[in-house]
Amino acid sequence: MSRSAKEWSNAQNALAYLNVADTLPHRSEGESVLLDHIPQNARRILDPGTGDGRLIRLIKSIRPEIEAVALDISPTMLKSAREHFANDSTVKVIEHDLSQPLPDLDYFDAVVSSFAIHHLKHERKQSLYEEVYDILNPTGIFCNLEHVASPSVELHIGFLSAIG
Ligand SMILES: C[S@@+](CC[C@H](N)C(=O)[O-])C[C@H]1O[C@@H](n2cnc3c(N)ncnc32)[C@H](O)[C@@H]1O
Repeated sequence: MSRSAKEWSNAQNALAYLNVADTLPHRSEGESVLLDHIPQNARRILDPGTGDGRLIRLIKSIRPEIEAVALDISPTMLKSAREHFANDSTVKVIEHDLSQPLPDLDYFDAVVSSFAIHHLKHERKQSLYEEVYDILNPTGIFCNLEHVASPSVELHIGFLSAIG
């Protein structure tokens, strides 16, 4: 199991994140930009590192017809996502370690992800981006809401303090 998979398989870590997930500064602005980029004709989306399915729930709140596949490795997150989508047969929640190649999932109109891919090693991020490209339909889009390395130590300290 990869390091990130181990880290997130710890229930305490997963629950600690879920407790603060709503409080991350400027999150709603980022999510709103992501939502704006999903093509109007999108029918099928993939969310790698879905957590409790937050992003899919957000998308389906405005686009209920969209079908979604959610991937995660944390048992706590998978349980929570499955509970959220228990009555929604248009969402499939699948256990998958993103450090491994994506399973065969067919094609998507959008691959969306938030605050998950940074947990992977740089080399794996790069190969995952290639796999994402390969499973997108010709007009498909990849939307990744992430925090990235800060350009200076001071800014990074400010960032860490802001997200607690
Ligand atoms: C900070 S949470 C974000 C969850 C969700 N996308 C959100 O925005 O609320 C990071 C998520 O990535 C998942 N994750 C981390 N490493 C992973 C891996 N190697 N394979 C699959 N999921 C992973 C964690 O289990 C967790 O659900």
